[in-house]
Amino acid sequence: MTALQENRVTRHAGPDHLVLSEHPVFRHFWYVVCSVDDLTTEPEPGRRGVAPLHRRVLGTDLVVWRPDPAGPVSVAHDRCAHRDAPLSMGWVTGCHLVCAYHGWEWDADGTTKRIPQFPDSPHPTKSGLTMVASAERYGLVWVCLATEAEGGPVAGIPEVAEWDDPAWRRVPEGSWDFDCTAMHLVENNIDPGHVAFVHRNSFGNPDNPELTDQNVERRPYGLVTWTDVPVEGRPGEDGATVRHTWSQVHLPFFMHLLIRYPDGLGHVMLKAITPVDDRSCVIHQVVLRTDTEADRPAADIRAFDHQVELEDKDLLDRLPDEFPLAQHLNAHAKADRNSLLLRRMYTELVTGQWTPGASQ
Ligand code: FES
Ligand code: CO
Repeated sequence: MTALQENRVTRHAGPDHLVLSEHPVFRHFWYVVCSVDDLTTEPEPGRRGVAPLHRRVLGTDLVVWRPDPAGPVSVAHDRCAHRDAPLSMGWVTGCHLVCAYHGWEWDADGTTKRIPQFPDSPHPTKSGLTMVASAERYGLVWVCLATEAEGGPVAGIPEVAEWDDPAWRRVPEGSWDFDCTAMHLVENNIDPGHVAFVHRNSFGNPDNPELTDQNVERRPYGLVTWTDVPVEGRPGEDGATVRHTWSQVHLPFFMHLLIRYPDGLGHVMLKAITPVDDRSCVIHQVVLRTDTEADRPAADIRAFDHQVELEDKDLLDRLPDEFPLAQHLNAHAKADRNSLLLRRMYTELVTGQWTPGASQ
């Protein structure tokens, strides 16, 4: 075992840490499984039918497919009721999902349509798919694992005012896998102290780490924090400057980060973080900008943000596997106020003292 691997072994176990699978409340939120563009409706050459996608949310394996190119997406648990084959190994043809093992077929809402060996015999009662609620928003496909019988979602997909505002252009950036908890990644994104150090090779400067102000307040959806962060400038901009960031965390794991540069340029980052399981997550990111493609090509914006995400990933992937909630587990300084409020709100969420939308 290398020293780095050793650092990942759990240092503290027990109720002082947040382990997602221990708290059913996390099943009641919307998470992104893919971008709309990830769902092809054209078969690959040499392959029968269109391949569905396999995704994992909170340790649950899902199959994601588009039954009809003009229709909505379908999502189900990735297990065939017949002999447990992963449905994501199958294919989509003629608006039906086909199991790769014995060829049973289902329609868009998971109703069994065909059992090919004896097609005229009745379908067993438990042969249908276990469907999962899904929606398409911001060019992304969202799911909520909690069924209606379980109470469904406790909060809607967050509203983003800039999305339909023509002053803002859309720059989808794709996704990155992180080998850390979803909570660690949210905490990192509202941590003004890390920028000068983790991002020293992109836009941070360890010789200029001081913060002039930092504000954080609770909101019905979670929290908002605003800070001036010293930066070295974005690509194409020379000289040190200050970046005003205004970050909303819609608990548990969605963020809307508004960055205002001194020249007025607006840069919004939608960060939809999906908990894959207790120890890993994926971030789906969409940027909205007030400049034009001629000012800054989308490819340059993506390349820069890719570098920044990988700088965070390099560090976060090596943090311990459990997310600490109890205050005594870490040392905290003045720049950690955002983190402390976030940890307190996660504690309130899992103990039922607070749910998004409830009064504070
Ligand atoms: Fe799916 Fe048999 S396991 S059809
Ligand atoms: Co960072």
